[in-house]
Amino acid sequence: MKNTSDDKKIIHSIAEMRAYAADAAALGEQIGLVPTMGALHEGHLSLIRTAATENDIVIVSVFVNPIQFDDPYDLSAYPKTLKADAEAAFNAGADVVFAPGADDMYPKGFSSYIDMTGPSERLCGASRASHFRGVLTVVGKLFGICMPDMAYFGEKDAQQLTVVRKMVNELNMNVTIRGCPTVREEDGLAMSSRNARLSEDERVAARCLIRALDEARALYEAGETSAEVLSKALRNAIEKEPLARVDYIDIVDPLSLEAVPEARRGDLMALAVYIGEVRLIDNRRFE
Ligand code: PAF
Repeated sequence: MKNTSDDKKIIHSIAEMRAYAADAAALGEQIGLVPTMGALHEGHLSLIRTAATENDIVIVSVFVNPIQFDDPYDLSAYPKTLKADAEAAFNAGADVVFAPGADDMYPKGFSSYIDMTGPSERLCGASRASHFRGVLTVVGKLFGICMPDMAYFGEKDAQQLTVVRKMVNELNMNVTIRGCPTVREEDGLAMSSRNARLSEDERVAARCLIRALDEARALYEAGETSAEVLSKALRNAIEKEPLARVDYIDIVDPLSLEAVPEARRGDLMALAVYIGEVRLIDNRRFE
C-alpha cells in the first residue's frame, strides 16, 4: 500500500518531523526511513525506490552528521546539495525529506552518545576512532524522531550495516533494518558521494578496488581459502596502482568483523583504500 498524497515536503524542524511521523503512525501507515548525508546518487535512489515499494510513507533524511567525521577537511568538503537531493528523492518515491540543522540535532551541552565495543572498533573503526559512535548516535536519534518501521542501508557500507543491526537488536529498537545491494558504476566502482572528488586519473585508478575483489574471489572460487593468501592477492592488485594507498585489507566474519584465518562462505572481504586524498571502501562476500 502506498500513500497517495501528493504533498511532498522538506521538513527542517525536529518537532514538525516527530508530529508528522506520529500522525502517520496513528493512521496506521507504515514508515520507511532512508538515512543519508545528501549528495544523492543512484545507490541512495535505489534504497528510496525499494523503501517506496515496501512502505506507505518514505522519509529520506539529509543530514551531514558532524560527529561522525574525524577529519575536519572531509566534513567541510562534503557536498551540500539539498535542493537537488530533495528533487531526486521525491522523484524516486520519497514523501518527506527531513533536513534538520546541526544546532538542532546537537544543541549546546549535548552529551548523550551511543557507543559500541567489538565490531565497531575494527576495520573503519580502527582507523577512524569516533566514527561509529557518531553514526550510531545520529541513527538512534533519527529513529527516535522519524519512528520508522523499516530503515534502509546500503551493503557497500557493510560495517555500518552490521553495527546498526547490532545496536537495534541490543537496544531493543522497534525497527526492521533492510540491507540493500551495492549499486556500481559500469566499470564496477561502487557508487559513493566521494567518487565526485576523484580527478580523471584517480577515477581510472579507483577501478583497482573492484579488480582486487574480483581477483580474490576468482582465487577463492578456484579453491583457495587461506585468508593470508587471499589478502595478499588483494594487496598486490591494489599496490599495482601507483595512485592507490591501502588503509586496510581484511577478511572477516560478517557479524563480529573479526579476522578469520580461513575464508568460509558468507565471510567478507573488506577494503579501505586511498586514491590520492579520497578514501574509498568496498567489500564482497564469499559465495
Ligand atoms: O551512510 C551514511 O550516509 C551515514 O553514515 C548515515 C547512515 C546517513 C548516518 O549519518
